[in-house]
Amino acid sequence: MNFKVPRGTQDILPSESWKWQKVERIINETCDLYRYKEIRTPMFEATELFQRTVGETTDVVQKEMYTFTDRGNRSMTLRPEGTASVVRSFVENKMFGYPDQPIKLYYTGPMFRYERQQAGRYRQFVQFGVEAIGSADPAIDAEVIALAMDVYKRVGLTDLKLVLNSLGDNESRKAHRDALIAHFKSHIEGFCSDCKSRLERNPLRILDCKVDRDNPLIASAPSLADYLNEESASYFTEVKSYLDDAGIPYVVDANLVRGLDYYNHTAFEIMSTSDGFGAITTLCGGGRYNGLAEEIGGPSAPGIGFAMSIERLLLAMEAEGKAFSDESMLDVYIVTLGDEARKPGFKLLQELRVAGIRADMDYTGRKMKAQMKSADRLKAQNVILIGEDEITEGVVQLKNMAEGSQEKVSAAELVKKLQESLIG
Ligand code: HAM
Repeated sequence: MNFKVPRGTQDILPSESWKWQKVERIINETCDLYRYKEIRTPMFEATELFQRTVGETTDVVQKEMYTFTDRGNRSMTLRPEGTASVVRSFVENKMFGYPDQPIKLYYTGPMFRYERQQAGRYRQFVQFGVEAIGSADPAIDAEVIALAMDVYKRVGLTDLKLVLNSLGDNESRKAHRDALIAHFKSHIEGFCSDCKSRLERNPLRILDCKVDRDNPLIASAPSLADYLNEESASYFTEVKSYLDDAGIPYVVDANLVRGLDYYNHTAFEIMSTSDGFGAITTLCGGGRYNGLAEEIGGPSAPGIGFAMSIERLLLAMEAEGKAFSDESMLDVYIVTLGDEARKPGFKLLQELRVAGIRADMDYTGRKMKAQMKSADRLKAQNVILIGEDEITEGVVQLKNMAEGSQEKVSAAELVKKLQESLIG
C-alpha cells in the first residue's frame, strides 16, 4: 500500500522548514513591537461557534468545514479560521475586564478548509492572525493594517497593494441589503442555486459568488458606498486619514466584500502585484467585527483583525525573487579515524553541545574522505579530527574550514578555544 500526504496538505521538509521558522521569528518580533501577545486556542471547537460567527450562508460554513461527531455525540469542527476561537476565548476568560483595553492578541497555526486544491490554496494552511478587541477607535484599524504591512516589509516583500472598503454599520448594511434584494429579485432565476437561497438570507454573499461572478448584474449591483450613513462614512474617513499619516498607501474598492459574515465598517485585503504570482493574489484579509462578542453571549467588545497564510507569504517571496539567506551552519563536525576513535569522539560531541556549540558526527561508519565531504555539505565552520595518535596524546586536530588552517589542541582546552573563536 502506498500512502500519500492527503490532498490539499503538504509536508514541510527540512529544506523548507527553516524558512517557516524565520517567518515565525519575524512575526513574533513584529507583534512584540506592537504589543500584541500570543494566544493559543484549540484546533477544534463546537461547530455552532463557526455557524454563528462566520455565518450560515458563507461558503466556509456551507461547503468547506471539516465537521465530525465526537464520541460524546457533539458536533465538532476543525477550525477554518482563528477569529471565532479568539473572540470565544476573550468572552470565556472575561478579558473584557482586564484593565488595559483593547486586548491585543496574535496566533500562528493550522486552519482547515475543504477547498479545491490549487497553487496557494490548501486544505490545511497556516494562518498568522491578529485580533485587537475592546476598542472602536479608527486608529486601531490603522495599527492593525500597519502591522500586517510591516510583517510583509520585514520579509522583504514590496509588490503589494492594500485594498480598503467600508462595509458600514448595521443601519447602513440594512439599507444596502434592501437595495440588493430589489436589484437581484426579478433576475434571480439566472443565478446559481446557492445565490437563489442567498437572496433573502444574505444578498451580500451573491457579490462574491464564485459561480456567478461574471454575471453583469453583479457589476451593476448597488454599491455599499452609496448607503453608508454619516457615522459610518466619517469612521471610514478617519481610518483613511490615520493611514495617510502613517504613510501607508491604499486603494479604495467599493466592491471589496469579505467572505465571512461577521464584518462591518473597515474591510481590507492585501494583494501581491508581482508578475510571477499565481491566480490567487490575496495574501491577507481582515476587518472590523463590532458585535461579534455579543453574538456569542459576551458584552459589547468591538474588534478588528486580519489573517494571512504563511504559504502565500512564501509564494509571494518566491514570485518577487526575495530569498532569506540560509544561515544554518554547524560549528563543528567531528571526523573519527578508526573504530577506537568513535567513543572518545561521541563523548567530545556531547561536551561540545552541552557547552552550546552546534556539533555533529558521522553515524554510518564512513571513511575519512566521506566524513570530510559531509562536513563541507553541512557548512561546518570547524572540523575536529580524532585518531589513535590523538587519543594517546590527549589532543585533537582542529581544522578551521574557512582558513584551511589546522592545529593540535589539547582536549582540555578545546571547548574554551572553540567558544572564543566562534564568538570572535
Ligand atoms: P480569510 O480571508 O478567510 O479571513 O483568510 C485570511 C487569509 O488566510 C487569506 O487572505 C489567505 O492568506 C489565507 N487563506 C485562506 N484560505 C486559504 C487556503 N485555503 N489556503 C491558503 N491560504 C488561505 C479570515 O480567516 C479571517 N479570520 C481574518 C480576520 C481576522 N478577520 C478579522 N480578524
